[in-house]
Amino acid sequence: MKILITGGAGFMGSNFIKHILNKYPDYQIINLDKLTYAGNLENLKEVENDSRYTFVKGDIADENDVDKAIGEGVDVIINYAAETHVDRSILDPKAFLETDILGTFNLLEAVRAGKAKKMIQISTDEVFGMVHEMGEEFTEESRFDPSSPYSASKAGGDHMCGAYFKTYDTPIIVTHSCNFFGPNQYPEKLISLAITNLLEDKKVPVYGEGNQFREWIFTEDHCNAIDTILHKGEMGEVYNIGTRQRRKNIDVIKTLLKFMGKDENNIEKVKDRPGHDFGYAINPDKLMGELGWKPAVSFEEGLQKTIDWYKENQDWWKKIKSGEYKEYYAKQYKNV
Ligand code: NAD
Ligand code: DAU
Repeated sequence: MKILITGGAGFMGSNFIKHILNKYPDYQIINLDKLTYAGNLENLKEVENDSRYTFVKGDIADENDVDKAIGEGVDVIINYAAETHVDRSILDPKAFLETDILGTFNLLEAVRAGKAKKMIQISTDEVFGMVHEMGEEFTEESRFDPSSPYSASKAGGDHMCGAYFKTYDTPIIVTHSCNFFGPNQYPEKLISLAITNLLEDKKVPVYGEGNQFREWIFTEDHCNAIDTILHKGEMGEVYNIGTRQRRKNIDVIKTLLKFMGKDENNIEKVKDRPGHDFGYAINPDKLMGELGWKPAVSFEEGLQKTIDWYKENQDWWKKIKSGEYKEYYAKQYKNV
């Protein structure tokens, strides 16, 4: 199988490329990535000389770059490429619209033109807006009600996927996942930021009182979910990917502090995120029941593995934190 993975130099895309090349000896991967601040070819060092892997630098919002990466044609496009960070979308939304909407449109056009046999859109539970209490869940039928420029852009891309299936019968599957965590996550998201701050003896900024909650999925489990959907998913379907492992932000931080031998003086309560969604919670029964996927890594086990990875790969994140990140964080800190 020949797969075009977009955004493969980012966090989950690079984990998925390594997953596929390890598991399927005769699959080929083309990785189309713009190498934004979040794209990092060091994530792919172990496969860069693999004859089954090709890297193409380019932008999914540019149809010529998409054509160049597809070449003679591919079996499937898996679209991981996106601007992904909610706080950055609040500071500067334009790139979110370009990549997450226009970029998705260009990929759909390529599938419609027969240059790829099918496409899987990697998307988020944030398109549904928020749940108001633990126990309430988003299903595949929940109405889109996005809150941030990020989630509105992802919702735009996902709506185009639905429209292409209904209008042109374009073979497409959309997935909505809960929050990812694990190795290689850029240290701007809650867990990667908190671990790296604690390793640097800095405090962890908690927005508001930390009472909001998120649902968490470890890298390996998300890779297995997409692998399952790639091989067994039905065209035109939507699959929610969730673990029901829901934790308040403050409890995530307290668990991290315990695992890292630190006390609660390392928490710094800061101004809340504007438009902050209270909670996300995904009902994964369709994916589990129809396709037989289930998560295997508990939140706490995944957290320990993640801490170990950041401890063992300090050069990876220290390089990031001393570059573009500094400028972003200065702006962001003003915002919160
Ligand atoms: P990431 O931010 O770590 O990486 C994104 C990658 O996309 C980078 O390599 C970047 O260079 C590339 N990219 C950005 N704009 C591009 C463009 N115009 N053309 C080509 N490449 C471009 O991403 P992530 O956190 O691993 O998320 C991957 C996907 O999963 C995204 O679609 C995101 O919306 C979705 N998602 C993320 C989470 C999460 O918790 N991180 C949860 C659910 C869904
Ligand atoms: O739900 C899936 C989404 O999860 C993905 O679609 C997004 O790409 C991804 O970034 C993530 O969005 P969140 O906004 O949930 O993730 P983030 O790590 O930014 O924040 C998690 C929670 O922690 C959120 O309630 C805000 C809070 N937070 C975050 C940061 C960075 C803090 O309290 N302090 C922080 O420093």
